[in-house]
Amino acid sequence: MTAPLKPEILITKEEIEKEVARLAQEISRDYQGKHPLLLGILKGSFIFMADLIRLLDIPAEVDFVSLSSYGSARVTSGEIKVVQGLRCPVKGRDVLVIEDIVDTGLTVGYFLDYLKKRKPSSLKLCALFDKPSRRVSVPIDYRGFTIPNRFVVGYGLDYNERFRHLSDLYVVED
Ligand code: IMP
Repeated sequence: MTAPLKPEILITKEEIEKEVARLAQEISRDYQGKHPLLLGILKGSFIFMADLIRLLDIPAEVDFVSLSSYGSARVTSGEIKVVQGLRCPVKGRDVLVIEDIVDTGLTVGYFLDYLKKRKPSSLKLCALFDKPSRRVSVPIDYRGFTIPNRFVVGYGLDYNERFRHLSDLYVVED
């Protein structure tokens, strides 16, 4: 299936680069003297995570989990489960969840609850893109771009597993 891309870019790779550097600076400052566990939500966060950790000036551990929510559709199903769970213990750790995009917040909200039960010493959320118009309720501690309620692709984000490799962020045509 082919989805045409809108010709205009929503956010350029240069803007993304700058914002990731700003977030890395904030995180490095707040976690000074700590050794946080950065937990990325697959698949969308893999590019963001790779860029972010290289700009941190604190030691950090990295792991990924895979949750299902969207399938191949463009709307959240509301059905969320941990597909590939945690490999390292979170008890007593400073855990920072790394998410590419928060839309309704159902996916990451579920995951934060799942982590809370495992008693981390602190738990925060960093999201590069935020679509607040459909939000249920989830606090974002480190927020990159606030974007309109459009379906976006690129910088790790896909539409039916396509377009993850694009360096800029695009809007998919309706
Ligand atoms: P939520 O549960 O509605 O917040 O959806 C979050 C998940 O849906 C993200 O981790 C993405 O995988 C996916 N998602 C939400 N909006 C978009 C989008 O605009 N483009 C690509 N994926 C999206």
